[in-house]
Amino acid sequence: MQKEDLDYFRKWFLDYVNQFSSPDSFIRENIRLKIEHTARVCENILLLAKAEKIGEEGYRLAEAIALFHDLGRFEQFMKYRTFKDSESENHALLGVKILKNSGILSNLPIKEENFIIKAVEYHNLMEIPGCAESFGELLFTQN
Ligand SMILES: [Fe+2]
Repeated sequence: MQKEDLDYFRKWFLDYVNQFSSPDSFIRENIRLKIEHTARVCENILLLAKAEKIGEEGYRLAEAIALFHDLGRFEQFMKYRTFKDSESENHALLGVKILKNSGILSNLPIKEENFIIKAVEYHNLMEIPGCAESFGELLFTQN
Protein backbone atom coordinates (compact mmCIF):
# COMPACT_ATOMS: atom_id res chain seq x y z
CA MET A 1 0.00 0.00 0.00
CA GLN A 2 1.33 3.37 -1.02
CA LYS A 3 1.00 6.60 0.96
CA GLU A 4 -1.46 7.85 -1.68
CA ASP A 5 -3.71 4.86 -1.02
CA LEU A 6 -3.92 5.65 2.69
CA ASP A 7 -4.53 9.35 1.97
CA TYR A 8 -7.36 8.32 -0.34
CA PHE A 9 -8.83 5.97 2.29
CA ARG A 10 -8.79 8.76 4.89
CA LYS A 11 -10.61 11.10 2.53
CA TRP A 12 -13.08 8.39 1.51
CA PHE A 13 -13.81 7.62 5.17
CA LEU A 14 -14.57 11.29 5.94
CA ASP A 15 -16.84 11.54 2.91
CA TYR A 16 -18.52 8.28 3.90
CA VAL A 17 -19.25 9.30 7.49
CA ASN A 18 -20.44 12.74 6.39
CA GLN A 19 -23.40 10.97 4.80
CA PHE A 20 -24.62 10.24 8.29
CA SER A 21 -24.92 13.82 9.49
CA SER A 22 -28.37 14.16 10.96
CA PRO A 23 -30.64 16.81 12.50
CA ASP A 24 -31.40 14.23 15.19
CA SER A 25 -29.02 14.99 18.09
CA PHE A 26 -29.15 11.38 19.37
CA ILE A 27 -27.89 10.09 16.02
CA ARG A 28 -25.44 12.97 15.58
CA GLU A 29 -23.86 12.38 18.99
CA ASN A 30 -23.47 8.63 18.49
CA ILE A 31 -22.03 9.01 15.00
CA ARG A 32 -19.57 11.56 16.40
CA LEU A 33 -18.55 9.07 19.12
CA LYS A 34 -17.70 6.47 16.48
CA ILE A 35 -15.75 8.95 14.36
CA GLU A 36 -13.71 9.90 17.44
CA HIS A 37 -13.31 6.24 18.42
CA THR A 38 -11.96 5.48 14.95
CA ALA A 39 -9.46 8.35 15.20
CA ARG A 40 -8.21 7.03 18.55
CA VAL A 41 -7.90 3.47 17.21
CA CYS A 42 -5.87 4.86 14.27
CA GLU A 43 -3.50 6.57 16.72
CA ASN A 44 -3.20 3.55 18.98
CA ILE A 45 -2.70 0.98 16.23
CA LEU A 46 0.20 3.08 14.95
CA LEU A 47 1.79 3.06 18.39
CA LEU A 48 1.47 -0.73 18.50
CA ALA A 49 2.68 -1.20 14.92
CA LYS A 50 5.70 1.05 15.52
CA ALA A 51 6.56 -0.83 18.71
CA GLU A 52 6.60 -3.99 16.57
CA LYS A 53 8.74 -2.21 13.93
CA ILE A 54 6.76 -3.66 11.02
CA GLY A 55 7.91 -1.01 8.55
CA GLU A 56 6.28 1.81 6.61
CA GLU A 57 4.01 -0.43 4.53
CA GLY A 58 2.95 -2.27 7.65
CA TYR A 59 2.16 1.03 9.40
CA ARG A 60 -0.04 2.07 6.49
CA LEU A 61 -1.80 -1.27 6.43
CA ALA A 62 -2.37 -1.13 10.19
CA GLU A 63 -3.83 2.37 9.95
CA ALA A 64 -6.13 1.38 7.09
CA ILE A 65 -7.44 -1.51 9.19
CA ALA A 66 -8.05 0.84 12.11
CA LEU A 67 -9.78 3.34 9.84
CA PHE A 68 -12.17 0.72 8.46
CA HIS A 69 -12.60 -1.60 11.43
CA ASP A 70 -15.87 -0.02 12.61
CA LEU A 71 -17.18 1.06 9.23
CA GLY A 72 -20.36 -0.94 9.85
CA ARG A 73 -21.17 1.09 12.97
CA PHE A 74 -22.53 4.07 11.05
CA GLU A 75 -25.09 2.20 9.00
CA GLN A 76 -25.90 0.05 12.01
CA PHE A 77 -26.75 3.06 14.14
CA MET A 78 -28.76 4.80 11.45
CA LYS A 79 -30.79 1.68 10.81
CA TYR A 80 -31.27 0.31 14.33
CA ARG A 81 -30.38 3.23 16.66
CA THR A 82 -28.15 0.92 18.68
CA PHE A 83 -24.55 -0.32 18.69
CA LYS A 84 -25.59 -3.65 20.20
CA ASP A 85 -24.95 -6.33 17.60
CA SER A 86 -27.28 -8.68 19.49
CA GLU A 87 -30.17 -6.27 18.94
CA SER A 88 -29.28 -5.39 15.36
CA GLU A 89 -26.66 -7.13 13.24
CA ASN A 90 -22.97 -7.99 13.31
CA HIS A 91 -21.27 -4.65 12.64
CA ALA A 92 -18.03 -6.33 11.53
CA LEU A 93 -19.79 -8.26 8.76
CA LEU A 94 -21.74 -5.14 7.86
CA GLY A 95 -18.43 -3.28 7.53
CA VAL A 96 -17.08 -6.00 5.24
CA LYS A 97 -20.18 -5.73 3.06
CA ILE A 98 -19.78 -1.95 2.80
CA LEU A 99 -16.05 -2.27 1.98
CA LYS A 100 -16.73 -4.83 -0.72
CA ASN A 101 -19.66 -2.94 -2.25
CA SER A 102 -17.71 0.32 -2.31
CA GLY A 103 -14.79 -1.20 -4.23
CA ILE A 104 -12.53 1.13 -2.22
CA LEU A 105 -9.86 -1.56 -1.72
CA SER A 106 -9.82 -2.83 -5.29
CA ASN A 107 -6.64 -1.02 -6.30
CA LEU A 108 -4.61 -2.72 -3.57
CA PRO A 109 -2.66 -5.91 -4.10
CA ILE A 110 -5.10 -8.78 -3.48
CA LYS A 111 -3.13 -9.94 -0.44
CA GLU A 112 -3.55 -6.55 1.26
CA GLU A 113 -7.20 -6.28 0.27
CA ASN A 114 -7.92 -9.71 1.77
CA PHE A 115 -5.95 -8.90 4.89
CA ILE A 116 -7.95 -5.74 5.55
CA ILE A 117 -11.24 -7.54 4.89
CA LYS A 118 -10.31 -10.35 7.28
CA ALA A 119 -9.11 -7.96 9.97
CA VAL A 120 -12.41 -6.07 9.83
CA GLU A 121 -14.40 -9.31 9.78
CA TYR A 122 -12.58 -10.74 12.80
CA HIS A 123 -12.13 -7.59 14.89
CA ASN A 124 -15.12 -8.19 17.16
CA LEU A 125 -14.45 -11.88 17.80
CA MET A 126 -13.01 -13.30 21.02
CA GLU A 127 -10.77 -15.58 18.95
CA ILE A 128 -9.54 -15.43 15.38
CA PRO A 129 -10.92 -18.55 13.69
CA GLY A 130 -8.50 -21.23 12.55
CA CYS A 131 -5.78 -19.30 10.86
CA ALA A 132 -4.40 -17.04 13.61
CA GLU A 133 -0.80 -17.94 12.80
CA SER A 134 -1.03 -17.34 9.07
CA PHE A 135 -2.94 -14.12 9.77
CA GLY A 136 -0.05 -12.88 11.93
CA GLU A 137 2.56 -14.07 9.45
CA LEU A 138 0.89 -12.14 6.70
CA LEU A 139 1.11 -8.93 8.71
CA PHE A 140 4.74 -9.42 9.61
CA THR A 141 5.83 -10.19 6.09
CA GLN A 142 4.43 -6.91 4.75
CA ASN A 143 7.65 -4.90 5.10
FE1 LIG B 1 -16.06 -2.72 16.34
